[in-house]
Amino acid sequence: MHTLRVALLGCGTVGHGVLRLIHENGDSIAQRRSIRFDVVGVGVRDLAKPRQTYGYKLTDDLSGLMAQDIDVAIEAMGGVEPTLRLLEGALERGVSVATANKELMAKHGAHLIAVARAHRAELRYEASVAAGIPVIAALDRQLAANRVARIQGILNGTTNYMLSRMADEGLSFDQALQICQELGYAEADPTADVDGFDAAYKLTILASIASGHWQDWNRVQRQGIRGVSLQDLDRAKRNGQRIRLLAEYRAEGHGHLSVIPVAVSADHPLFGVHGSTNAVVIDAEPVGTVTLVGPGAGAGPTASALMGDAVEIGCNLALGIRTIPHAWRSEAIE
Ligand code: NAP
Ligand code: HSE
Repeated sequence: MHTLRVALLGCGTVGHGVLRLIHENGDSIAQRRSIRFDVVGVGVRDLAKPRQTYGYKLTDDLSGLMAQDIDVAIEAMGGVEPTLRLLEGALERGVSVATANKELMAKHGAHLIAVARAHRAELRYEASVAAGIPVIAALDRQLAANRVARIQGILNGTTNYMLSRMADEGLSFDQALQICQELGYAEADPTADVDGFDAAYKLTILASIASGHWQDWNRVQRQGIRGVSLQDLDRAKRNGQRIRLLAEYRAEGHGHLSVIPVAVSADHPLFGVHGSTNAVVIDAEPVGTVTLVGPGAGAGPTASALMGDAVEIGCNLALGIRTIPHAWRSEAIE
């Protein structure tokens, strides 16, 4: 049995999901993979906030937590600072990282990957895109021999949930958003969801993996769902269509990236994707078209992805090996 010493950053929707998963499935993981998770501390901002911790120790001294003798940092905190500084420091010490932070990976992924590679640490980020769908594992590893021509997807659970309930039940934008916040789907600042930033970050990550080039998220042609009215949704329905926030990467030229609400017809692969479900359609040569569908937001699906990465890191450590992340070349594209 190999014990993995873990620092968990964040104990909100996702962080709590990680603790719960370790609490409920820890024995089963130990039985199947011969590794145990020893959570040495959980970093939060507000120690007074009431929350369930399963007996794990909370701290608001994140630097102190990260300075402890740890094997892996699981990051479920969000934001760019102080997260970037904390993860950079961990990687520089050879501590492996699993993160759910798409904003950080889209903006600083090429740099963090370079730091991880320089210090022979693992940096895994499956949870940053499409939560429970193992799309990064698919693109980064299993489809690595292909040339990816196009990726289309529904990459934001909040907006897909909102559009679904607005169209099906006539809920207002504000009502639908409030439900997403209560369910833990929305970002801490839901502007990231409804204005398309979150989907743009995720698309940038997928495009960077597919092309091997860091794609500047500022190049994403982006439009959120604020402008989609109940009348638009009703008109689409009468035409046999549904409005979806479609994220698309096309490999031509330096890469075309967009996140735009579009009306899709019944023959479109994303027509039947409802609620917080995400879907990714990858067109690649020679595999053809691969479609992945699954839960795209929330505590359980995201903890599943983060812990899948942590289990892999632990199994590697037990064998004395590390899977170093593939570089995204970061020279300017334009
Ligand atoms: P959340 O509920 O707001 O939780 C954030 C946690 O991080 C809280 O425990 C907060 O502490 C802590 N935190 C934030 N800033 C901090 C700081 N500066 N110092 C110390 N602690 C800090 O957010 P979440 O929904 O769990 O999301 C976390 C990350 O996962 C984000 O990167 C998000 O994009 C990503 N993600 C979320 C989902 C989802 O469905 N929610 C899915 C995939 C990925 P307090 O509790 O004390 O405030
Ligand atoms: N706010 C994000 C979403 C969480 O709704 O898709 C999952 O990344």
